Amino acid sequence: MSLRALLVAATAAFLTGAAGAAEPPGLAPAGSAPTGTPVAVLPDGGNPHPVHLVLPPRKPLSAVARLGRTLFFDPRLSGSGRVSCASCHSPRHAYGPPNALPVQIGGSRMNRFGVRAVPSLEYLYRQQNFSIGPDNEENETITLQQLVQLGRQSRRLRKTARDTAATAASLVPQGGLFWDGRVNTLQQQADGPLFNPLEMDAGSVATVAAKLRSGGYARRFEQLFGPGMLGNSRFLVSEALFALARFQIEDPSFHPFSSKYDAWLQGKARFTPSQARGYVAFNDPRKGDCAACHLDRPGADGQPPLFTDTQFEALGVPRNPAIPANRNPRYHDLGLCGPYRTDLARQTQYCGMFLTPTLRNAATRHVFFHNGVYHSLAQVLDFYDFRDTRPGRIYPVVNGKVDKYDDLPARYRANVDRSDPPFDRAAGQAPAMSARDMRDIIAFLQTLNDGWRRGPSIPELR
Ligand code: HEC
Ligand code: HEC
Repeated sequence: MSLRALLVAATAAFLTGAAGAAEPPGLAPAGSAPTGTPVAVLPDGGNPHPVHLVLPPRKPLSAVARLGRTLFFDPRLSGSGRVSCASCHSPRHAYGPPNALPVQIGGSRMNRFGVRAVPSLEYLYRQQNFSIGPDNEENETITLQQLVQLGRQSRRLRKTARDTAATAASLVPQGGLFWDGRVNTLQQQADGPLFNPLEMDAGSVATVAAKLRSGGYARRFEQLFGPGMLGNSRFLVSEALFALARFQIEDPSFHPFSSKYDAWLQGKARFTPSQARGYVAFNDPRKGDCAACHLDRPGADGQPPLFTDTQFEALGVPRNPAIPANRNPRYHDLGLCGPYRTDLARQTQYCGMFLTPTLRNAATRHVFFHNGVYHSLAQVLDFYDFRDTRPGRIYPVVNGKVDKYDDLPARYRANVDRSDPPFDRAAGQAPAMSARDMRDIIAFLQTLNDGWRRGPSIPELR
């Protein structure tokens, strides 16, 4: 028996509780996977292949980043004087929403509702620019529209947790910020919420510049960007956005990597039996297959996994009647093809696609998916398990028929992913995950919450 076969057998025994069990469901025999290998857990819950993670350096914040921190928490910048970046991106909630509202309230009179769930601002430090297809030199010389053409001709490849490279080769949209990837850099990004009438509604560049000149920042701006810079409103606001971006890039609280899973990867923690089973099911193409899109393995260079392949997918999550904009039956949030991003509006093959978010700290959230339609991980897991096998449990019934993919106009429903497991099943078939698999996957997702290291320092078992 090879070492790996031994490990697999040992894991099997650990997971099933039956010593010597040959081949438990969820673990392929060693060597049988076409590419990649099944994940393994030691009988005591430890990691058989500990790695050294290459974490972002921890240095004192630069002066620009410190200025950015002040701005991030300053409600004066908003039109209402009551909302700062931190109101929606709460540092105590992994820079995500501090409440269970699907969309937050903003605007200069605090009476405008947002249209999408607030994403976490954590783990964006490696996010690549928006692109279509693999990163290579050729791509840099051709335009997005040309790539779209190529993308139309390429075949959609099935993604599984063991073959995540497959789609990288086909031309899929990936990268960027926001649920629709419409902006590339954190700096460009900040003027979105700052001036967005539904969010901070800060007014004009001149209004914001006037606020920056008063309120104790003026001297800091001049020290950092040169005397006389205060006179140029556009420049002043642009440097404020730069400072906000530097804060998010430099401050370790945006990428702490202090979860139990990070400790486990480095051989410094042990999974509970439920977490171990969940980890295997998360990776098993016949169960969750979650890792096909929410990548969970460290890179060859030791980069810790971010639990996203940063690709766009149409999952067809149900419409959320709690979003005020959805009271208009003709309103549809189509992600990549609009209405908030406009450059791909005619590329209807992308309608309904949204960016795959990180799952780090997802277990601390109270709203899930771009439209915040779910409020617990149990509901999210039900969606993955029953979307195709028991659609009546997920979608409303209209005129006696289950209205599958009800948040998309009928003509775009064909864009919904029906090939990647667990979405490759038909109505009435057995769901991919059992109730226990789903509970176990949730237990595993909880190991992705940061702050574990500040908790028990000895490997815990429960
Ligand atoms: C009223 C709530 C609200 C406020 C205030 C707010 N945001 Fe956001 N933020 C959102 C929402 C909602 C999204 C997602 C919007 C979308 O995808 O179209 C978002 C997205 C982002 C993203 C992209 C994250 C990702 O995962 O792609 C960044 C970065 C960001 N905001 C930074 C900021 C900064 C910096 C400020 C302060 C200048 C700020 N936000 C203020 C609600 C808010
Ligand atoms: C085919 C790719 C794919 C697979 C497989 C997949 N996901 Fe996702 N996941 C996504 C995308 C894309 C979104 C965002 C969709 C949206 O908002 O419309 C998402 C969103 C989520 C969210 C919401 C996070 C947030 O911040 O709102 C959770 C939780 C999640 N997935 C967990 C899982 C689990 C658990 C599995 C396995 C059972 C899984 N995913 C399998 C692509 C995938």
